[in-house]
Amino acid sequence: MSEQEQMRERSLEEEFTKRIAQDEKIEPKDWMPQRYRQMNIRQISQHAHSEIVGMLPEGNWITRAPSLLRKVTLLAKVQDEAGHGLYLYSAAETLGISRDEMYEQMLCGKAKYSSIFNYPTLTWADIGAIGWLVDGAAIVNQVSLTHTSYGPYARAMVRICKEESFHQRQGYQIMYKMANGTPEQKAMAQDALNRWWWPSLMMFGPRDAESTHTDQSMAWKIKIKSNDTLRQMFVDQAVPQADILGLRIPDPHLRYNPETAHYEFGAIDWEEFWQVVKGHGICNKQRLADKNKAWKEGEWVRKAAVAYAEKQAKKRVRKAG
Ligand code: 3HC
Repeated sequence: MSEQEQMRERSLEEEFTKRIAQDEKIEPKDWMPQRYRQMNIRQISQHAHSEIVGMLPEGNWITRAPSLLRKVTLLAKVQDEAGHGLYLYSAAETLGISRDEMYEQMLCGKAKYSSIFNYPTLTWADIGAIGWLVDGAAIVNQVSLTHTSYGPYARAMVRICKEESFHQRQGYQIMYKMANGTPEQKAMAQDALNRWWWPSLMMFGPRDAESTHTDQSMAWKIKIKSNDTLRQMFVDQAVPQADILGLRIPDPHLRYNPETAHYEFGAIDWEEFWQVVKGHGICNKQRLADKNKAWKEGEWVRKAAVAYAEKQAKKRVRKAG
């Protein structure tokens, strides 16, 4: 790069830094550092993969929901997750990566999706725990992302957060019903809480000190709050909710600190977290196998949609001609 080009690059970067400092939204056609583009592609595409893979554990219970109302509610939620994935893939596409490229990265295991979706859904109470805890954790994270600096991502978050509140509420209602039901139902709800509590805390990522991206991500306001801050917000919100349910959080070290007005909690099993992130969780292989099978079996749908779109385009050209 010539001296002149380097100077121009530096002034563009200074201008960009000023815009971020003034909380301006960066739009697709704006100049941005290549690394900013890449960091957003990484985070937004992995967020989208999480939404899509997240459909699998819950989809597993649509045919086994205990009532028509629960079936319809769960169906609506799973369909919402597909829509969230589409918003997020579309937001990532504005950064210059294709849908197919992103999807291929997920199908071959190169791109990550949230660790939480590599746990099995063993009973109906798991559907309640996922709505209450997993969607509850997602909301804590996603509300902060409505202020993220990349415009299309921030706007996608606004729409997604509105739908997530319904997801969290329907899950909490399932837990409330079971916790106030028969002793067997309450035991099932407690068992689900025992299994989903710690993996939900892991959703927020490694501790800040071990986070690869947090410093730069927060400097560019891609990430608005740090992993540990969001995790603490989630714990402070979820513990009183568990009290209302009359269920016990599976953490003997949990205690409220009146000085900090926060709940202190025990050590997270980071060994388990990294094992799951690296592909060695209970359901990692199954999830990717299911996604690859769906991709192969869905080929005819994609071909038909492209053929139909081409036919419509030819019709429009003939009409205009
Ligand atoms: N699962 C899998 N990988 C994780 C992870 C998790 N829970 N937490 C962190 N990682 C990965 C990161 O992707 C990164 O790996 P990479 O460099 O290969 O991408 C590495 O661990 C280091 O972590 P960092 O803290 O440095 O990574 P981030 O700065 O990206 O922070 C994050 C992680 C907080 C999850 C952030 O990416 C984020 O906020 N993402 C957007 C929200 C999101 O993706 N949520 C997932 C759940 S979506 C959902 O729940 C759907 C709902 O409808 C139920």
